[in-house]
Amino acid sequence: MIPGDPQSSLLARAIPLAIAWGLACAVVGVSLTLLVTGWDYYLLPIAEQGAHPSDPLLRSSGRYGLALGVTAASLMGLNVLYLVRRNLAGNMKLGSLRAWMTIHVATGLAAPVVALMHSGFTFRTPLGVFALGLLTTAALAGIVGRYVYSVVPRGSSGRELELTQVRATAGEALEQLEGELAAEARAAGLIKEVLAEPLPPRPEGWIGARIMTLVRSDLRRRARLRTLRRALGSDAKSARLLDLLETVLDLRVQARQHQELHRIMASWRGAHRWMALTATLLLLGHVYVAVRYAHLW
Ligand code: HEM
Repeated sequence: MIPGDPQSSLLARAIPLAIAWGLACAVVGVSLTLLVTGWDYYLLPIAEQGAHPSDPLLRSSGRYGLALGVTAASLMGLNVLYLVRRNLAGNMKLGSLRAWMTIHVATGLAAPVVALMHSGFTFRTPLGVFALGLLTTAALAGIVGRYVYSVVPRGSSGRELELTQVRATAGEALEQLEGELAAEARAAGLIKEVLAEPLPPRPEGWIGARIMTLVRSDLRRRARLRTLRRALGSDAKSARLLDLLETVLDLRVQARQHQELHRIMASWRGAHRWMALTATLLLLGHVYVAVRYAHLW
């Protein structure tokens, strides 16, 4: 247990997970239903869509089309609340950062899908098209960032850990592992061999190369653990030793690459932030133009 890091209960983690993914699946489900039921409308050339009976419902300014646009914008609003939560005092009762990250990911992935359905695949307004393009890019970049986020050491609340905390936790986990190995002569030999292996290199170069180094070393570590799992068997005792070993190895790598991991996260976050900010500004411009010149209301 990391000092000052409250452990969140299983229920506290499961509820936001269910709400966030339930909401995302519901809005994506409605979008896909409209796509399937209105495919003959969406496939028509733009000039002929106006004469189709579904036009008053499905065009971007139609009853469903507009509702999709408002939903996409609301999902974006919900999405950036993560930033608000992250910058607020940690002891306010607003849910853990981890829970907000789940909401961020689910709404971030759903928003471009819903916005695409709002466009009706017509791509006529430049501001809207650029907003959608950037939103989609931000969401795809988000998937890479989510991976980096998962390898940056953090406590169960989702806060990033200091190097001293990572080292202390790695030391505690190693002590626990060594204690349990005392009674397991065969496993002890194999596990100590893995512990003596050199740690992976520090990631270097441009951000893409650094992320690839992280992925490669992660995959190698997982493959090494799989080989060991086959050698030790899958009884409860071996499974526990291997879980502990995995924790020790992950924490050791995180301690060694602490500075690099934080740098990678910061560079990626900067790019993601600018994409999100520009997409939001374009979206506001798009809404202004639509309301001001298309006489929606
Ligand atoms: C498309 C809509 C999205 C928008 C508008 C958006 C916006 C943002 C913003 C404003 C931040 C804060 C950046 C900062 O620290 O200044 C952020 C962080 C982040 N986003 Fe997104 N995002 C979107 C989608 C996604 C998706 C789909 C994912 C994952 C699959 C994702 C993963 C992340 C991660 C991992 C962080 C870093 C969190 C941290 O270090 O505290 N984002 N996003």
